[in-house]
Amino acid sequence: MRSQNPGSAPTATRNDLNTIRAMLPYIWPEGAWSLRARVLIALVLLVLAKVANVSVPMLYKHAVDALNDTTAELLAVPIGVLLAYGVLRVLSEAFGELRDAVFTRVAQRAIRLAGLKTFRHLHALSLRFHLDRKTGGIARAVERGTKGIEFLLRFMLFNILPTLIEILMVCAILWKLYGWYFAALTLLTLVAYIGWTTIITEWRTRFRRAMNDTDSEANTKAIDSLLNFETVKFFGNEDHEARRFDAALRRYEDAAIKSGGSLALLNIGQSMIIAAGVSSAMILAGFGVVDDTMTMGDFVLINAYLLQMFMPLTFLGFVYREIKRALTDMETMFQILAENTEIKNAPNANELKIDAGHITFNGVTFDYDSRRPVLKGVSFQVPSGKTVAIVGASGSGKSTISRLLFRFYDITSGTITIDGQDIRDVTQESLRGAIGMVPQDTVLFNDSIYYNIAYGRPEASPAEVENAASLAHIHDFIMGLPDGYQSTVGERGLKLSGGERQRIAIARTVLKNPQILIFDEATSALDSRTEQGILAALRDVSENRTTLTIAHRLSTIIEADEILVLSGGVIIERGRHLELLAADGVYAGMWNRQQAAAEAARTLRAAET
Ligand SMILES: Nc1ncnc2c1ncn2[C@@H]1O[C@H](COP(=O)(O)OP(=O)(O)O)[C@@H](O)[C@H]1O
Ligand SMILES: [Mg+2]
Repeated sequence: MRSQNPGSAPTATRNDLNTIRAMLPYIWPEGAWSLRARVLIALVLLVLAKVANVSVPMLYKHAVDALNDTTAELLAVPIGVLLAYGVLRVLSEAFGELRDAVFTRVAQRAIRLAGLKTFRHLHALSLRFHLDRKTGGIARAVERGTKGIEFLLRFMLFNILPTLIEILMVCAILWKLYGWYFAALTLLTLVAYIGWTTIITEWRTRFRRAMNDTDSEANTKAIDSLLNFETVKFFGNEDHEARRFDAALRRYEDAAIKSGGSLALLNIGQSMIIAAGVSSAMILAGFGVVDDTMTMGDFVLINAYLLQMFMPLTFLGFVYREIKRALTDMETMFQILAENTEIKNAPNANELKIDAGHITFNGVTFDYDSRRPVLKGVSFQVPSGKTVAIVGASGSGKSTISRLLFRFYDITSGTITIDGQDIRDVTQESLRGAIGMVPQDTVLFNDSIYYNIAYGRPEASPAEVENAASLAHIHDFIMGLPDGYQSTVGERGLKLSGGERQRIAIARTVLKNPQILIFDEATSALDSRTEQGILAALRDVSENRTTLTIAHRLSTIIEADEILVLSGGVIIERGRHLELLAADGVYAGMWNRQQAAAEAARTLRAAET
């Protein structure tokens, strides 16, 4: 088992300890005195509950001795003892419940703090990190991690720790009352019990895992097969599908049988160890009674202590496995938290002081992966209030330029400045606050249209929101919807067409009212009639603002102050529309091809009508 991969167990333990250490600040939060007080009160209650619990068998012993004592004249003594016995039992329960109540706030606050911290951290991580991960996977890691915290706290504090305290108390009492060998016998039994349970549970984990794996395998097979219902019919492969499904089920069957068998082994071993321990202690006590060094009450007391102590241990295997799982889940979450933020504010970063919004790219080199450069020394300027357009084949790096200006990534060499300030020297918040972006694909929040537009400036008034919508030529469309601005847009905004989504994106950028605008193929999803309307709107919006337009359809940028043609990571042509046509180069070729295509489309439409 463990010997197969020596060294893995110590590392796992070290990781577990690190995970527990990483959790501590959340349950002992800095400066939160009321929470810390709760932790202390809960610990006191925990000890009180255990003191009461341990005293119960003691009274039991006194009752038995009193009843046994034929010389006692009054029944009052045993009755008083038995009443006290009842009261203590209640107290032991009550302290336990109180402890839960007091501690719940601490546990829930820890979950909230860890969840919030991870969420903030996720937003601080780079686009690169997020593009490399599946969002669903991250969300699940966070959910499981916070659940793991709750589980760990509950079981550590309410199960493991109390049991440990009780064991120590009982051993101390046994030692004091009856000599060290009772304490030693109890400890020995416990060590054997815990050792057996952890080793067997560790070994059983593989069967549990095999069960889980085969279960999801069977599930995936079944779903995939049903999704391909028609394909199965096309090829008459029902039997083939059934065989594949059955193979997965058979593996599950085998794993489940092994898991069940090993559980029986675990339980039998546990009972044997307990039986051996308790019997030995009882035999010792029996000798004591015969020798008259012990009373009947002592005999009963020892039996009661041992059984009471071993009872909570019945679940040890389960608790051990679940704690391991919780630790693994938490480790995944804390790993996300330990993930370094790639883009950081410089230590002495200032606010971006924008006055005119003059953008300069100077010899900018960039790659997503060092094996494949995307930009190889790109230089250009967007003078304040002017419009510069970037054109080029798909994949030539146009959107990359907009991402670099937003500082989603840091460049390899060269500089990007706005009004003379390097964008790496200013805070990311002030930089992004100064730029408005209408992206190539607009994804919306699954909320109302109003919410999505107001997202550009959440404190905007309804009149301002509607005004922005009008400017983006979407107000009339929205008013025509049954629920108007309160219509929901669906997951990622998919209930709206691409053009409608894009106009909402334009409206919210208008609302944000930044000094610098980036349109990344902002009209590519629109038909040419809508496009004309929006181009007019974009012209209004970008008046007196520094604008970078990335365009697919060249007809949309003929008025730009400068047009850059990007190819192979460098700017191969630049100038105004007419200059570039006159130069008769790449741009002119693209223009002619698009004109010819547009002409063909017009002829086709004319022929149809
Ligand atoms: N996150 C990324 N990781 C790796 N490569 C990327 C990433 N984003 C874009 N690329 C690659 O960089 C090149 C430029 O992409 P992009 O700037 O989006 O092109 P476009 O000019 O079509 O807007 C493309 O070849 C693309 O495959
Ligand atoms: Mg692009």
